[in-house]
Amino acid sequence: MCATILPEKHMHYPVLLNEIISIISPQYGGTYIDCTFGQGGYSSRILEFAGTKVIAIDRDEDSFKKSLDIKSKFEERFFFKNLKFSQLNNLKLKNENIKAIIFDLGYSYVQIKDKKKGLSFDSKGDLNMKMGLNDFSASDVINKLDEIELEKIFKFFGEERESKKIAREIVIKRKIKKINTEDLVKIIERTKKIKNFKIHSSTKVFQALRIFVNKEISELIYGLINATKTLKKDGIIAVVSFHSLEDKIIKYFFKSLSEAKSISRYVPKTKTKKNLLNLISKKPILPSSIEVKQNPPSRSAKLRYAVKKCEFYDFETDIFSKFKYLIDIENYSKKL
Ligand SMILES: C[S@@+](CC[C@H](N)C(=O)[O-])C[C@H]1O[C@@H](n2cnc3c(N)ncnc32)[C@H](O)[C@@H]1O
Repeated sequence: MCATILPEKHMHYPVLLNEIISIISPQYGGTYIDCTFGQGGYSSRILEFAGTKVIAIDRDEDSFKKSLDIKSKFEERFFFKNLKFSQLNNLKLKNENIKAIIFDLGYSYVQIKDKKKGLSFDSKGDLNMKMGLNDFSASDVINKLDEIELEKIFKFFGEERESKKIAREIVIKRKIKKINTEDLVKIIERTKKIKNFKIHSSTKVFQALRIFVNKEISELIYGLINATKTLKKDGIIAVVSFHSLEDKIIKYFFKSLSEAKSISRYVPKTKTKKNLLNLISKKPILPSSIEVKQNPPSRSAKLRYAVKKCEFYDFETDIFSKFKYLIDIENYSKKL
């Protein structure tokens, strides 16, 4: 489900905005990186405070148009680049002291309403789901990957309990004709036996495909690593996520870099590697009941943040081995 909908007004609604602002304190000025510019909700709020500067990025070329409105108001203090946040380290920052790097994961209301992107199951025609700067589409995935690969994508990226049956049906049906969005929705509806009246029967498969097409697992892992490397001491990294897979990765990354670890199990515990991050709270910040009432899809949002404690720009993390089972699935795309 889209993270940022204000249903009555059909406009974009930035989730947990007040909570983000109170963590990054733009009232004292400073330079910020908004890794998921979207419709500019976070960026424009930060720029309302004098003495701030925002470097915004987004993988969707369409968000460039929106960035022009903000640029016209804050010419000297706002910069936009069409870039994936995994490549955050390619920003030419000229030794800039970044106060905070923020991520608001997923996709915006404007993107889900854009039928060409095919993110929603009421889209028509060829399967797409590309958010921008992609190598392949959902149509390639559904029509080219083998049955076991499809099953694993649906199971691990969508937590779809009937992934095996759905994958089998897709492989049978695509022998007759290339599968498009309407075909996929019909296949899922006809195949699924377990009914969940709270969500559309295609929700989980569509989520899985979106994660796979946009390589959201490695995007998030490299985004977190490069953000942590970019920050100096006291810099803040704040991430809003919308599903359990993302939250699991963020939680692990923050926790593993904020625990005092022994260099080796043979070295006495007193000789510990200095902690890289200070995790302010182990628990995520959730939207208030007022926000959920105004914007129901915000109910699944979780905000986690950490503060960099020292000037290490290079560090080790075992996050790739921890989530190898997900990266291995993402790597099926090498065949496409
Ligand atoms: C939920 S929206 C952000 C909304 C924004 N906070 C606002 O207030 O308008 C997420 C945005 O992140 C972008 N995005 C998702 N994954 C990305 C990635 N790996 N790199 C760069 N942008 C990404 C999407 O294109 C989308 O525009």
